[in-house]
Amino acid sequence: MADSDVLEKRAITPFDVSEGALYSENRWQEPFAQLRRDMPVSFLPDSPYGPYWSVVTHDLVQQVELDAQTYSSSYVHGGITITTGLVEDEFPNFIAMDAPKHTAQRKVVQPSFNPSEMLVREPEIRQRTKELFDALPVGETFDWVEEVSVKLTIGMLCTLFDFPWEQWRDMKRWSDTASDVNPDFSEERRQKFYAEMFQMLQKFDELFERERQQEPNDKILNRIIHSEAMGNMPQLERLANIALLIVGGNDTTRNSMSGFVHACNLFPDQFELLRKDPSLVPNAAQEIIRWQSPVTHMRRTCTQDTELGGQLLSKGDKVIMWYISANRDENVFSNPDVVDFTRDNARRHIGFGHGVHRCVGARLAEMQLAILFEEILGRNVRIEQDGPLTYSGSCFLHEIDNMPVKMLPIG
Ligand code: HEM
Repeated sequence: MADSDVLEKRAITPFDVSEGALYSENRWQEPFAQLRRDMPVSFLPDSPYGPYWSVVTHDLVQQVELDAQTYSSSYVHGGITITTGLVEDEFPNFIAMDAPKHTAQRKVVQPSFNPSEMLVREPEIRQRTKELFDALPVGETFDWVEEVSVKLTIGMLCTLFDFPWEQWRDMKRWSDTASDVNPDFSEERRQKFYAEMFQMLQKFDELFERERQQEPNDKILNRIIHSEAMGNMPQLERLANIALLIVGGNDTTRNSMSGFVHACNLFPDQFELLRKDPSLVPNAAQEIIRWQSPVTHMRRTCTQDTELGGQLLSKGDKVIMWYISANRDENVFSNPDVVDFTRDNARRHIGFGHGVHRCVGARLAEMQLAILFEEILGRNVRIEQDGPLTYSGSCFLHEIDNMPVKMLPIG
């Protein structure tokens, strides 16, 4: 334990890093650099989300992640985002749970993301990626986010769930709805939300029923329905876990794909390097996730008084782990703001989190990104930005909303 004088004197965050404008105007880098330098753990007594602690360095974020007993993810304490969401309370799923329930449910789905299962999924994901590129216009401006990132991600999720491809628009609508969690819902939006979720529930019940008739295998819906931990859970709780898988895989993978194209425009030498040496593709995927940090933060709640980085935290305090900052920690990554596909420790990023809740879908996301990069390289084209991009003002997801581009042949 550090000196008690130090512990009692709280470091007060000089600015509110949850402020949406920092993200919509892409000026979050400097405030976080300042916090990493001056106060790796700091407290903001008042914000639109209430009081919260900010943890901004790589080592301290890991320390929080590795002590799940002191730092709870449970929805009972408010869950895993800075907002204490209405829907999260009503539909608990395993990302917002602690052991032993979290452990048991995670164990059910994890084998569906094993390397052997990824090999089974790979051809379909590659095929969808090829078909999508075949249909893209050459030399004309289009929105990369809408035409590529969104569609490929929805395709990837359809593959994961063996969801009928011809109904992909339903999957897109439900994933948009499931992500649209806001405690300030109007009654009208709330009704619409429930109507969509009800449709999704019916569809997934049908798919679960199909799997119930099959022998147990490693497909995700099959594993869920045949498992002890999830097979007989209340229908709504099961749906909440499907929503978790959809939402967990959606904006995250989408924004990595958009981040890749943006990065290749900002650092054209890196794209050239990748073209010359496609064996860099897996490392490039890690580097993009580090640099983009599609999940800006995750939240925990203290279950007891504790000490972190010389600060004294109290039971019930809200703790925000800023991945977007930890992934730019200059003590771990040299020239952290620069994209470097040869970076030898790119894999040390914590864009997927760390510890018991580390992203269960990481392999699927990595595979989809690698397939996309390979498809671009194989076609001998470059994707040129054709106007400014727009970022959303979310402090939870680092989202690129629109990005006009042109696909141009090389040479
Ligand atoms: C958890 C990031 C793709 C499903 C997480 C966490 C992060 C994250 C930061 C929380 C980790 C923690 O609290 O320590 C990402 C990123 C992705 C991605 C950056 C893409 C680049 C996916 C995909 C899926 C998925 C494709 C599935 C389709 C999940 C689930 C959890 C999770 C189910 C909860 C794990 C648990 O609580 O045990 N992800 N994710 N994610 N992710 Fe992902």
